[in-house]
Amino acid sequence: MKVIQQNAISVDGYIAGPNHDISWTSIESWEDFINLTNETGNLVLGRVTYGLMQSAGELEHFKKIQVVALTTNDQLVEKKDNIIVTNKSPKETLKLLKEKGHKKVLIGGGGRLNASFLEAGLIDEIYLNVHPLVLTQGTPLYTVYKNNKLDLKLLNTKKLSTQVTQFHYKVIK
Ligand SMILES: NC(=O)c1ccc[n+]([C@@H]2O[C@H](COP(=O)([O-])OP(=O)(O)OC[C@H]3O[C@@H](n4cnc5c(N)ncnc54)[C@H](OP(=O)(O)O)[C@@H]3O)[C@@H](O)[C@H]2O)c1
Repeated sequence: MKVIQQNAISVDGYIAGPNHDISWTSIESWEDFINLTNETGNLVLGRVTYGLMQSAGELEHFKKIQVVALTTNDQLVEKKDNIIVTNKSPKETLKLLKEKGHKKVLIGGGGRLNASFLEAGLIDEIYLNVHPLVLTQGTPLYTVYKNNKLDLKLLNTKKLSTQVTQFHYKVIK
């Protein structure tokens, strides 16, 4: 099973500005994200990102894929249509998706979810869509990543638009 992570980031490594501001992210990056979800057939989110997408009506785009949101709050756990809100660990979540026949899994953020999968050594490849701005504050790509440094290998770069470049990395394990 291959686990990939994709995020739109600022030059200084934030995935959202203060107050969850993602107004700076591009349509090309969003389309790239949609394409990846179609490829994997699933999307794993942190509870905060899941709630924000729900409020914004964005989950409508993902009705045909399996959406899994992670939480530590037992009271939020539910299964409804294509959505599972679970208190499982990152490892158990991947096992669940494997049992459902998924061969590739997309980790879609936010920063805390990204960090918990990376810390557990579960991310194989990372796609970063770098946007031309410096945010200086907000949500980092990995919020509270506790392990030692991690080496990556650059697999590819791709221009998504004149302003946005995608860096595709493999995690060296
Ligand atoms: N630019 C991009 O590509 C992009 C993509 C996604 C999100 N974002 C932005 O990122 C921000 C949200 O990021 P965030 O770091 O604040 O929140 P997040 O990662 O979306 O959600 C954090 C919550 O997820 C749950 N969680 C995370 N890891 C878990 C684990 N291992 N086990 C169980 N539960 C786990 C916990 O929920 P409980 O508190 O319920 O226990 C935790 O509080 C938003 O502003 C969003 O717009 C940007």
